[in-house]
Amino acid sequence: MTRTVSIFGATGSIGQNTLDLIRRDRDGYRIVVLTGGRNIAQLAADAREFGAELAVTCFEDCLPDLRAALDGTGTAVAGGDTALIEAADRPADWTMSAIVGAAGLAPGFHALRHGRTLALANKESLVTAGPLLMAKARAHGARVLPVDSEHSAVFQALVGEDMGAVERIIITASGGALRDWPLERLAEATLADACAHPNWEMGQRITIDSASMFNKALELIETREFFGIAPEKIEPVIHPQSIVHALVGFADGALMAHLGAPDMRHAIGYALHWPERRDLPVARVDLARLATLEFRAPDEARFPALRLAREVMATGGGAGAVFNAAKEIALDHFIAGALRFTDMAPLVEATLDAMSREIRLTDAMDSLETVLQTDHLARTRASELAKARQEQTA
Ligand SMILES: NC(=O)c1ccc[n+]([C@@H]2O[C@H](COP(=O)([O-])OP(=O)(O)OC[C@H]3O[C@@H](n4cnc5c(N)ncnc54)[C@H](OP(=O)(O)O)[C@@H]3O)[C@@H](O)[C@H]2O)c1
Repeated sequence: MTRTVSIFGATGSIGQNTLDLIRRDRDGYRIVVLTGGRNIAQLAADAREFGAELAVTCFEDCLPDLRAALDGTGTAVAGGDTALIEAADRPADWTMSAIVGAAGLAPGFHALRHGRTLALANKESLVTAGPLLMAKARAHGARVLPVDSEHSAVFQALVGEDMGAVERIIITASGGALRDWPLERLAEATLADACAHPNWEMGQRITIDSASMFNKALELIETREFFGIAPEKIEPVIHPQSIVHALVGFADGALMAHLGAPDMRHAIGYALHWPERRDLPVARVDLARLATLEFRAPDEARFPALRLAREVMATGGGAGAVFNAAKEIALDHFIAGALRFTDMAPLVEATLDAMSREIRLTDAMDSLETVLQTDHLARTRASELAKARQEQTA
């Protein structure tokens, strides 16, 4: 049977890996929507190749190029944020949420409205609006499947298990590009240094977030929201080989681990074929060749993002939305060369402090609009604080 599929963020790393799997079974899928941002050449090429019904760029100024590139094909085109939401309203059996950042929240939210399956790579959705998103899925009979490799691993380790018997969830982290740098040199880390991930090939933003461990911080919050587990039962551990993606510890002391090559097509394929398991084009792990799997506790002095994630989980309410928004602004500034690597976490912390004086962070986020307003306000405050910091150091 042919399944209909929409991919939000099709031109990115996750989107391209999803299309790679679909390309191997062309008769099994029909593409409804593909979305991208500024990479119009890729978006148009994919829309042509897969005969997409609709191609959307989130940037209205890119629409003329997209229109020209798809002229004469059967693919409709659209541009802008509203077009993204309208695209999410088109029926599809399976939707991939792989836009980067909080921009991915609204399309994913809308895709849930018709009781469909949402494959969730966009971790920011759960960090900013976890309770709201999961409640929406329940209300519409929709299914959310995790695509982050760690959460897919936990999901798989929990098949047939009772959540009541879960004692802890251990999320592994490679430690990123700067894992072994001397602490006192971290402030000098350049964009190129932070982008040199040892194991995973990913988009630029998540690669830098891996080096700062903001990615792991987001994933701790994501674990709490997806699996409904108490924060103190979630443990990060550094595992340089990135072969064990997560472990679930049960009341009897047993640990169920998920192992696999560091290739996102595993988690994407699991969500695409769920509840079946199908052959996937990923390398098989050769344990004898690997010989050693190392684990160690993360150093919170090196990775202050982990402490901040715990504080955010303890606060609840709007803290996740503020944390994520401030992190995105800090990252923008680091990428632009306007902030040092080690200044990102203090900026996020200062934004959380400032926002806690402005709004009651513990209040539940009761609508998508509230989340988006909080996100907007936090971005404004973080940008102001970043500017003040730059002026001080100038
Ligand atoms: N990559 C991984 O291995 C991985 C693993 C786990 C989870 N994730 C999560 O999956 C998501 C995507 O990550 P990625 O690495 O695939 O990112 P990426 O390679 O940077 O791709 C991001 C996608 O979002 C589009 N985009 C950028 N800004 C946008 C905006 N403001 N509005 C709408 N679309 C926008 C991009 O379009 P253009 O490129 O055309 O501009 C691209 O299609 C993130 O939330 C990430 O944390 C990624």
